[in-house]
Amino acid sequence: MGKNYLDENIISDLESLLLNPNNGKKHTILAIDDEENNLLLLQRTLRNKYTILLASSGEEALEIINQRGKDISLIVSDQKMPFMEGTEFFRKISGNYPHIVKILLTGHSNIDILVESINECHLFQYVLKPFEPEQLCLIVESGIKKYELSTSKINILQDLSELFYKTIKSIANALDAKDKYTHGHSLRVTLYSLALAKALNLNDELLEEIETTGLLHDIGKIAIPERILLKPGKLTEEEYEIIKTHPELGTKLVCGIDKLKLISNWLKHHHERYDGKGYPEGLAGEDIPILSRIIAIADTYDAMTSSRAYRSALLHQDAIDEIKRCSGTQFDSELVKLFVSISDEIELIKQDPHGCYPKYSYLDKLMNSTEAVH
Ligand SMILES: [Fe+2]
Repeated sequence: MGKNYLDENIISDLESLLLNPNNGKKHTILAIDDEENNLLLLQRTLRNKYTILLASSGEEALEIINQRGKDISLIVSDQKMPFMEGTEFFRKISGNYPHIVKILLTGHSNIDILVESINECHLFQYVLKPFEPEQLCLIVESGIKKYELSTSKINILQDLSELFYKTIKSIANALDAKDKYTHGHSLRVTLYSLALAKALNLNDELLEEIETTGLLHDIGKIAIPERILLKPGKLTEEEYEIIKTHPELGTKLVCGIDKLKLISNWLKHHHERYDGKGYPEGLAGEDIPILSRIIAIADTYDAMTSSRAYRSALLHQDAIDEIKRCSGTQFDSELVKLFVSISDEIELIKQDPHGCYPKYSYLDKLMNSTEAVH
């Protein structure tokens, strides 16, 4: 796929999102009021332009939200209702549905209560009762415009994130495809690293970073001549010195990209050793970033359990024993303990990396949530 083709497609997607954020469908509005006459008035006022859902209490409205929340663009709710007031209802749904525009109908004009409601429930607007239908129509119309603007923005940001991660995955795939002996290496290293990072209870932000680092950890190898990279048999000392430049080459490749600046440091140090005898900088112990220490174990496990031109693959248990043997010298001993404790999980990933991918991948979840929003 050429760059221009990609750019044109993205631009046209973004344009259609901006021009037609609700895909030409009528917006859905939920109206809540405990008095039937008021509900019917809301329905009459709004039904020409919108699809209207009706609820006669906060509880009923919560049920509707549970089933159809993602279809709803705007809610008009009465404030004074028995059991659950309008503001309480809005407070309950604000966390899960921040993008739904909220309008409160209120019979009193106590300014303190109104200000508090606006701040707590992120109200778009309040309307004093009794209201003129034309006035409500105008407020709803501007609420719908706000909804369209904010969802367009969310969709655009998610499209850009999706593009970013798809690009990273395709770079990793291209790298893996270059060498039949290391085929699938980046993906497996990513999954082993994610399993270890999850066992370490690292937060979502670090999991995202470790996934990107895992996928790109050997990106510097694209600058290593193929005669060395794909050489069947042992490397000469000089060739090995060239291979050893790949972490720094990788760092140079990604550090100019804002979103990858942080991970450029993790991938730079994935061949450091805990005892300081690694490369490129000979960092030791805790001076090696933790994400690099994680990748180092995952990378070595995968190298040992994959065949090479000059040797066959080690069995899972033999590779685990070898990692244990290198605990405290090549690897961080605490991380080795944890890696050994999830050894069964690691073996499952080794047997079926593609099957395990959705379970571990942060990026995969991000793609799926993007589809849900669209
Ligand atoms: Fe490497």
